Amino acid sequence: MTTRETAAQRTTPEDITAAVTASFAGAADARLREVMQALVRHLHAFATEVRLTEEEWRAAIATLTATGEITDAHRQEFILWSDALGLSMLVDAMANLRPPGATESTVLGPFYVPGAPRREYGESIAAEPAGTPAWVHGHVRDLDGDPIAGAELDVWQNGADRLYAVQKPEGPEDHLRGRFRSRDDGSYAFLAVRPVPYPIPDDGPVGHMLATTGRHPWRPAHIHMIVRAEGYRTVTTHVFDAASEYLDSDAVFAVKPSLLREIVPRGADDPERPNGVDGEWASLECDFVLVAGDDAAEVSDPGRTA
Ligand SMILES: [Fe+2]
Repeated sequence: MTTRETAAQRTTPEDITAAVTASFAGAADARLREVMQALVRHLHAFATEVRLTEEEWRAAIATLTATGEITDAHRQEFILWSDALGLSMLVDAMANLRPPGATESTVLGPFYVPGAPRREYGESIAAEPAGTPAWVHGHVRDLDGDPIAGAELDVWQNGADRLYAVQKPEGPEDHLRGRFRSRDDGSYAFLAVRPVPYPIPDDGPVGHMLATTGRHPWRPAHIHMIVRAEGYRTVTTHVFDAASEYLDSDAVFAVKPSLLREIVPRGADDPERPNGVDGEWASLECDFVLVAGDDAAEVSDPGRTA
C-alpha cells in the first residue's frame, strides 16, 4: 500500500468495533472472552443506534461517577440500577427456570439479612406493633402435591411505616423477620402484619432517572420468603398482596402473576382469630411448591441497597 493510499483510508465506526472485539481474542478464559466481546459488540451497537453524542457520553460518565460516590456498605446504587432496569429479574429468570406448578422465584431485594431468629409455628414476627396483624399460612409441597416436612421458611417484610428492620438500626434487630419450619403435614403458619407499598431509595442517580423518565419508585405490597428443604431447590420469592397498588408498575419488575395472593380482612369477632390478636386482622393463604434437586442451603447476602 502506498503512502497516498494509506492517507486516503478512513477509519470507520465499524473498524473501531472490530479492533476492540479482536483485542480480546487472546483471552485465555473462553467465557471471559465471550462476555467481553459480546459486551463490546452490544455497547457499540447501542451507541451507534442512538447516535450517542459527546455531551450524552459525558452525562453517562457523570451518572456512573455519582453512582459510585453514593454507594457504600449500606447503599448499593449499582444494584439499584440493575433492579430498576430489570436486569436483576432477567438474570433471576434465567437462573431459576422451574417447571409448571412450582413456585416461581423473584428478586431477593435489598433488605435480606441472614440469620433471622428461629420461631415456632404460629409465632409473631413483630417485635412491636407494626400494622394490621396478618395470619399467613399454607403448606409446603413437592410437585406431586406431597407434603414436605421440615422445610425452612425464612421470612421478612416491612411494617405499616414502610420500613424494614434493617432500615431502622435504632429499633429491634429481629423485628418483622423470622425462620419457621413446616410441620409433618407440610403446614406452616406465622403471624405477620399486612405489608404496604414502599418506594425504593430515590434520592440518588436511579431516583433521578426515574423522575426524568416519568417513572415512580414504588413497589407493591409484599412479604419476602426464602423456602429451603433438604433435597429440594431453594426458592427465593415474594408473596404479593393481590389488591395492592403498583402491581402493574413495580419499580423493579418483580411481580409475577403466580405470586399474587388475596389478603382477606377479618373482624375482631371472627372465631378463627389467632392467639395474641385483638381487633381487626387479616389472613393470607399461600402454598409453596418445591422442585427436587440439590442446592446450597444458604443464600448469600449481596449487600444491596439499604
Ligand atoms: Fe421488599
